[in-house]
Amino acid sequence: MNDIMIGFVLLLLLVAAQASINGDAIERSDFPDGFLFGVSTSAYQIEGANLEDGKSVNNWDAFSLSPSNIEDGGNGFVADDHYHRYLEDIETIQSLGVDAYRFSISWARVLPRGRFGEVNPNGILFYNKILDNLLLRGITPFVTIYHHDFPQELQDRYGSWLSPLMREDYVHFAETCFKNFGDRVKHWITINEPNLFTQMAYKNGKYPPARCSPPFGNCSAGNSDIEPLVVVHNMLLAHGKAMKIYRRDYQQKQGGIVGIVVDCLMYEPLTDNDLDQDAANRGLAFYIGWVLDPLIFGDYPSEMRQYLGNQLPRFSSSESNFMKDAIDFIGVNHYTTTYAKDCIHSTCSLTGNRAINGFLDTTRERDGIPIGEPTGIEVMRVVPRGTRKMIEYLKKRYDNKPMFVTENGYSEPLVENENQNVLQDNKRVEYHKMYLSSLAQAISDGADVRGYFVWTLMDDFEWVHGYLPTFGLYYVDRETLNRIPKLSARWYQDFLNPQYVREYIS
Ligand code: BGC
Repeated sequence: MNDIMIGFVLLLLLVAAQASINGDAIERSDFPDGFLFGVSTSAYQIEGANLEDGKSVNNWDAFSLSPSNIEDGGNGFVADDHYHRYLEDIETIQSLGVDAYRFSISWARVLPRGRFGEVNPNGILFYNKILDNLLLRGITPFVTIYHHDFPQELQDRYGSWLSPLMREDYVHFAETCFKNFGDRVKHWITINEPNLFTQMAYKNGKYPPARCSPPFGNCSAGNSDIEPLVVVHNMLLAHGKAMKIYRRDYQQKQGGIVGIVVDCLMYEPLTDNDLDQDAANRGLAFYIGWVLDPLIFGDYPSEMRQYLGNQLPRFSSSESNFMKDAIDFIGVNHYTTTYAKDCIHSTCSLTGNRAINGFLDTTRERDGIPIGEPTGIEVMRVVPRGTRKMIEYLKKRYDNKPMFVTENGYSEPLVENENQNVLQDNKRVEYHKMYLSSLAQAISDGADVRGYFVWTLMDDFEWVHGYLPTFGLYYVDRETLNRIPKLSARWYQDFLNPQYVREYIS
């Protein structure tokens, strides 16, 4: 081959490589054999059936009693009424052709009074029906034990996650789940996003129990510099203890694996400056390493110790031993990327100047140019390249521990007074294609990612945003609660099985 020919072949290879990044070209066959595709939901966001069949009041029920706590004044009392429509929903999930379905267990439905009362047989029955129906249809359940909702009694009695007593309640709950459901569940997630929940509940005071202090927010009580550290510490120890019990008493006979899900916000330096590069690395350590380092290496990231000193709790040596290597996989919830700006050497906002923030400011703009297209949630910009970078970071830091992308999704920007055609959600389709392409690249670079779950099946109760953001592949009519497929549902179905006959969802 002469030089021109070689050049030409190289060019073709380059074009082919580029095509696989381009969203339009992405196909299921770009992912390894056995890679699982699924959809994700969580109990409180879809179930409804508040106080029905023995479910008690949970933290979100109590919080949303003050309508001003939720942007549209909504709550999860009815949500998508999945509790009564679960069969229809499972049929819909099956019609998409997914391999797996991630859902969570409502703590207040299974243990209405936590450790202080009995197991609710109706709660067990409900999740048994879900599991059995999924398995009957060949869908692998991924079960999140705790996804932001717990019995209000645990808050009222001892302040929930601020107290070490919550670890005991969590372990009791987790064990109740292993005992009752573990014969059929092979993929467990102990806790959804300790980092995001804690930031929202104990630093910004936006999620219940709404604790914070200035300059982070004006709550009636709380300490934003300290409490988030205590809360995550309790969550990590709760996970570690539950994992220890699972490995000792259940794993061998039930054959499952257990992971934790982290909100994997990607950080990029605001400028080329080394200081901002350090700030981005600190951001990752303070937000992601905070949860994962203890569960893999047995201690918090050294950067956190360096800047937080004794405010950061310590693990005793026996705790550190059982915390080390306490996950079988990392659950990656990835939506977006932010820029990080150093605050150790430069002037910053009041919050950027605090140790709890890792001495950095985040921004979604560089020189007036947004980091990505907007979505329905201000901070969630569309930045597909972040997926590859995020996975690369996790791969390197954690020696390519198995990963599942447990959430990735898009909500439409809210356009007031305009009749949006919510069913024609081209932007959601584009989002998923681009993010999947970026993920496929990370995998071809050698990352051990084993699955991808779309957030979410159908429009749902989006916590403090109420029903305003719509992440669903299915639109839910808030009057009739009918589920209507969006274009993205049809796209996902085609992507998963190009030959599929569309009769189920049309
Ligand atoms: C949470 C979901 C939430 C989604 C979209 C994630 O942080 O796990 O419960 O609905 O983001 O905002």
